[in-house]
Amino acid sequence: MPNPKIVILGTGGTIAGEAAESTQGVGYRAGQISVQGLIAAVPDLPRIAAGCTGAVLDAVQLAQVDSKDMDWRVWRTLLKATAQALDDADIQALVITHGTDTLEETAWLLQVVLQPGKPVVLTCAMRPATSLQADGPQNLRDAVAVAAAGRCGVWVAAAGEVHAARQVLKAHPYRLNAMHSYEGGPCAYVEEGRVRWVVTPATACSAWPQADLQALLGRGELPWVEVLQSGAVQSARAVNALVAAGVQGLVVAGTGNATVHQQLLQALLQARERGVMVWCTTRCLEGQAVGQSIDRGGPAADDVGETCLMDEINVQLCKAADAQALDCVLLAPSKARVAMMLQLARNS
Ligand code: SIN
Repeated sequence: MPNPKIVILGTGGTIAGEAAESTQGVGYRAGQISVQGLIAAVPDLPRIAAGCTGAVLDAVQLAQVDSKDMDWRVWRTLLKATAQALDDADIQALVITHGTDTLEETAWLLQVVLQPGKPVVLTCAMRPATSLQADGPQNLRDAVAVAAAGRCGVWVAAAGEVHAARQVLKAHPYRLNAMHSYEGGPCAYVEEGRVRWVVTPATACSAWPQADLQALLGRGELPWVEVLQSGAVQSARAVNALVAAGVQGLVVAGTGNATVHQQLLQALLQARERGVMVWCTTRCLEGQAVGQSIDRGGPAADDVGETCLMDEINVQLCKAADAQALDCVLLAPSKARVAMMLQLARNS
């Protein structure tokens, strides 16, 4: 690489947040400080970026949003910028500053669609830049260290930990170490600017073909997919209302092993008959739904129950012969929703 660069893309979030008082850790405005301002707060960032390749830093402000309001317009801009950077021979790695609230979804989107062959490291903060306890500068420094370390894939660097896009979830509304990898823990730790990997991530799938990526980027909006949770005292009303309103996909955050309340189940089966894509994952914070029909060879004709719903979903996903789609049953609901929007976009 003749002129290696690490590019920092700013999208907003608490890391760029400003409060009226330095003691204020809530009630501030996210997405106020420029990406150049974030860089300026870390004195030795150029040295960390230089690592052993001599990479220099560059920065681009792509958006300035509170990530609770993340939308397709910003996602599309980010996807485009990331895809271009992955194709640019001078760019060694990317760092993306982002809010914590939907970071797990953005990380998953970039991983699924682009399967980056370079490091793409998202980072964030739980306190605004003006706080006495601002965690953004250290997180940015750690993210640049992870970017310079050269391991390809989408990572999240926060609170000294490095999480894989597949596992990371926001697990706490306030703590500085809010980002969490369930089961197996973080993939690495960043200590004094050095990255210590403890997990070898699963082998990557392939990126979307160029034609599919261009078709996705050309879309005015993503298909409409909602997450519904199954629990005690459930009715069919939410499903029926969504179907009547034209929803295209439903992800059910099911109980336990991706089971659903019988009141909800009938409505979901009817929704599927009307062409709505339905997937069921688990609302459990740890583990993943264990599919049944993959080994049993499909549902019995008279078995119309929740097992059947799981069976049908699994058979459908197996038929798709798409490892990423099959994996969706095993994803947390927030990421299954992203995966379904992408799947529907690709099918249409
Ligand atoms: C946001 O997600 O943009 C605000 C909250 C945060 O970054 O922690």
